[in-house]
Amino acid sequence: MRSTQNPSAEVSPLKLPVALVGDESLVPCVDGVSRRYVGLDAGASTAALPSVLDRVIEFLPSYSSVHRGAGYKSQLSTARYEDAREAALAFAGRAGRDDVAIICRNTTEAINHLVYRLDLRETDVIVATVIEHHANLLPWSRVATCRYVECGPDGTFTLDDVVDALDATPRPRLLTISGASNITGWMPPIDEIINAAHARGIQVMVDGAQLAAHRPLPPHADFVAWSGHKMYAPFGAGVLVGPRSAFTDGDPFLAGGGAVDLVDLDEVVWTTPPDREEAGSPNVVGAVALHAAITELTNVGWPAIIEHDRRLARALRGGLRAIAGVRVLGPELSCDTLPVATFTLEGVPFALVAARLSAEFAIGVRHGCFCAHPYLIRLLGLDHDEVARFHKDVRHGDRLSMPGAVRASCGVNTTDEDIHQLLDAVAIIASGAAPPCDYLQDPASGDYFPESTNGWNVDVRSRGGSCSPG
Ligand SMILES: Cc1ncc(COP(=O)(O)O)c(C=O)c1O
Repeated sequence: MRSTQNPSAEVSPLKLPVALVGDESLVPCVDGVSRRYVGLDAGASTAALPSVLDRVIEFLPSYSSVHRGAGYKSQLSTARYEDAREAALAFAGRAGRDDVAIICRNTTEAINHLVYRLDLRETDVIVATVIEHHANLLPWSRVATCRYVECGPDGTFTLDDVVDALDATPRPRLLTISGASNITGWMPPIDEIINAAHARGIQVMVDGAQLAAHRPLPPHADFVAWSGHKMYAPFGAGVLVGPRSAFTDGDPFLAGGGAVDLVDLDEVVWTTPPDREEAGSPNVVGAVALHAAITELTNVGWPAIIEHDRRLARALRGGLRAIAGVRVLGPELSCDTLPVATFTLEGVPFALVAARLSAEFAIGVRHGCFCAHPYLIRLLGLDHDEVARFHKDVRHGDRLSMPGAVRASCGVNTTDEDIHQLLDAVAIIASGAAPPCDYLQDPASGDYFPESTNGWNVDVRSRGGSCSPG
């Protein structure tokens, strides 16, 4: 990992695991006891690194408009915003290249942004894979023709499978692919895939949402997108990186102030990228937070992060596999994955497992289809009739038959103790031990809630917080 300059950040060689903001929080359980929250949902969002929060607090008194003010604070805010952009480019391995980092909200926005800028037609072919998150499927499939690389029952495919899709006719315009799956944590052989695409003159977009906090982003991808909230900077900034030339012509994704050189009522001259791509007031606090997270992860270093991840992945996936009735989806244990395990438990609905982990054990996981329906259907091995049945039910507003699984995912703060607590809790649920209270399933969401008198999650329940929509 390259180092980035942040004059106000201290270079401290953090040792993993490192506590995140809020890691000591206690949450209520149905037995009336408050327990330490065990957050095993890093794949969805991570809490802030303490250095990220410190940096935001330090910056806020200087906060002012970016690119729009002569005032000292505006100048300072603009400088910090541009520092963050530079840090994002370096983090993506792009320093010294004629690339731009466009600061946006998240990976979803970044991919939609790129798709708009590519000005695709229905006749354009995009190669995607069936393992993609909806954020890397729907923006493409609604405007272009997608050709999908299939996966096997273990949720993986080979370089040859990708090459076959690249070589099929009509010739694809671009390959879009995840650096790592949000369900299985599997990492396709991304460098070889990028080389194969480039050897054929085909551009590659890498969805780095899951990869960014765990492995270096592939520097040779033409485009890469990722989110700050999955890498310990939950202040609403994400990044799209790509060659400057991709953004120099044509209409920007967003039209408005800051993106122009000249405007009259019947004329506009767009300015140069990246400003051309960032109409409206930018999220400078989010950018500063992202920069601080980049600085901290850079200080920790990839070797330490990867070693931590591998240890956790082995303990998590191996431990779950050893529990009778648990089925871990995805490749074999020997395959190098992110520290993620998605599993089902025989005889216990997935949404009930997640609800019990939360309400009885204070363990936060994700459940459902993980915004990757095509991949999950394949991993679960559902046949055509089963898929047709639940599609029909959902179209009629009934989510009770939605398939799904439970996902535990780890970050830099995850400890061995966290994994043990999860494994113990899953083992108790798997043993058939009766829960301390009844659980009711909400037909609208398919989620379970404890019938508890201890006020557990009443607020969440009344607001319909649910994992089920994907
Ligand atoms: C692989 C992958 N791609 C894209 C996204 C979308 O990220 P965001 O919600 O930050 O836009 C996610 C979110 O979980 C993801 O895991």
